[in-house]
Amino acid sequence: MSTVTTSSSDGVCTVRINRPDKLNAMNVDVARELVRTFEALGADDGVRAIILTGEGQKAFSAGADIEYMSSITPDESVDYARTGQLVTSTVERVRQPTIAAINGFALGGGCELAMSCDIRIAADTARLGQPEVTIGIPPGWGGTQRLLRIVGVAKAKELVYTGKMISAAEAEKIGLVNMVVPLDSLADEAGKMARQIAANSEMGVRMSKEAINSGRNADLDTGLAVELLAWRNCFTHPDRKELMAAFLEKRKK
Ligand code: COA
Repeated sequence: MSTVTTSSSDGVCTVRINRPDKLNAMNVDVARELVRTFEALGADDGVRAIILTGEGQKAFSAGADIEYMSSITPDESVDYARTGQLVTSTVERVRQPTIAAINGFALGGGCELAMSCDIRIAADTARLGQPEVTIGIPPGWGGTQRLLRIVGVAKAKELVYTGKMISAAEAEKIGLVNMVVPLDSLADEAGKMARQIAANSEMGVRMSKEAINSGRNADLDTGLAVELLAWRNCFTHPDRKELMAAFLEKRKK
């Protein structure tokens, strides 16, 4: 059985980390499989939105594989972190919108993976955190950078320095997750949001994602320039003409 599985319906692909006996901890095999999966999805025109989740009811992912890390050399640790950063960058940059459906523990690399998705929906049972300092390392799969961009420097430092786990409710309060739902309805809620996104103009959504992702790491003027390009690209696309005409003619889109 593959360590990462996919299933699709209505243009929405659900990607599952499938190593539940190890709380979906991401060893090298899982990390490489995630990169392969998201690269393939990025090239698949039939996929309009992606949900990322973990197999089972206990964990989204408990992070990087501590057993593996316990015996590697400093050079091998850099290769592993590079692979981890490639995972989170590949997920962040995939052209379709992504939703992390956080079905339990999202710790270390698991939290970093969730943060590389566009939107995070957490089960009320989820626990999130960056516990790396408790095992002698800093976050290494993008956590020191993405956490501060999502929750701000002060909260990022608090979470990273203490290594504490927070509840889904606390994560929602600090803006780390978009919404919290009962575990039983997590798949439905993530699916509902994914289908709502998938029903919109693919080009409009894709250009919005590119503009927001670029602007997040740039100064305002650069971000506004990217927004203009994104705007213009949509005016060259048939979606825009058809959807505006449908509105004006008061017919169904
Ligand atoms: N890497 C490797 N294996 C992991 C793992 C990880 N990050 N997280 C959990 N596992 C394994 C455990 O070793 C255990 O394996 P075993 O059954 O072969 O002994 C199995 O997953 C179940 O975990 P367990 O610790 O028994 O579950 P629990 O419910 O008692 O505790 C956690 C759950 C999440 C609190 C605990 O597993 C934990 O703290 N994990 C590490 C989280 C972490 O520090 N991640 C950051 C890594 S950089």
